[in-house]
Amino acid sequence: MSDTILELKDVEVVYSLKEKEVKALERVSFKVEEGEFVSLVGPSGCGKTTLLKVIAGLIDFASGEIMKPEDFEIGYVFQEPTLLEWRKVIDNVVLPLEIKGIDKEQKYKKAKKLLKLVGLEGFEFVYPKDLSGGMKQRVAIARALIYDPELLLMDEPFGALDVPTRLKLNSELNRIWLRTNKTILFVTHNIQEAVFLSTKVIVLSRRPGRVKKIVGIDFPRKRDLKLLDREEYLEKVIEIRKIFGKG
Ligand SMILES: Nc1ncnc2c1ncn2[C@@H]1O[C@H](COP(=O)(O)OP(=O)(O)OP(=O)(O)O)[C@@H](O)[C@H]1O
Ligand SMILES: [Mg+2]
Repeated sequence: MSDTILELKDVEVVYSLKEKEVKALERVSFKVEEGEFVSLVGPSGCGKTTLLKVIAGLIDFASGEIMKPEDFEIGYVFQEPTLLEWRKVIDNVVLPLEIKGIDKEQKYKKAKKLLKLVGLEGFEFVYPKDLSGGMKQRVAIARALIYDPELLLMDEPFGALDVPTRLKLNSELNRIWLRTNKTILFVTHNIQEAVFLSTKVIVLSRRPGRVKKIVGIDFPRKRDLKLLDREEYLEKVIEIRKIFGKG
């Protein structure tokens, strides 16, 4: 039995816009076990980013409970790579440690290891402008891992990439997840991507986002792109698409 690392109970988020209030999330409840890969899927504007932000403590929630261990480190990969253009790749990766005042040698050693893990060995000293979109997201993943976070939040990290690059990064993310034993909460509106990567898919409704259904994906954890042609994979995609489609 794994341990629950994160639990949400009836979480509601309301944004105040001038005189108007917008309810973004309604009674959202789910659990994430240690080492799981959980995807959140739902239509545009349903509250996926809001959900990650509230878990990371970047915004407040109006009611409900969020239970996570104390001193819990969270890594965050944003919808855009958000790299600092004037810093070399390695200096972007060490940025979170720099803020914490970790010594230089230790920082660079760790960053080099992570850049190797994400397939960017040899690109440590180039500037972001010389990288493709996929490579920038790899840098953002390395940067998010530098704290050695217990939980990695990823907000549509591959949404802007072309299909072959996205598939390649999906397969690499599966390898990185297994290599690092991280717990990952991953936002996407691509159902194929969610089924390929996850141990569990949480389907959200239109705004205000509610949990419509939680679907377990019990394929072996180590996956390769051949899975995409398998019948059991396609059945899961269709099952989730049907739930997704209903309102
Ligand atoms: N700071 C804010 N103030 C007011 N309303 C907001 C704010 N941020 C988000 N919203 C609204 O809350 C709802 C949920 O937004 P959110 O960005 O979480 O959706 P999302 O599922 O991530 O969308 P997308 O798929 O487009 O990224 C949207 O209707 C959005 O307009
Ligand atoms: Mg979003």
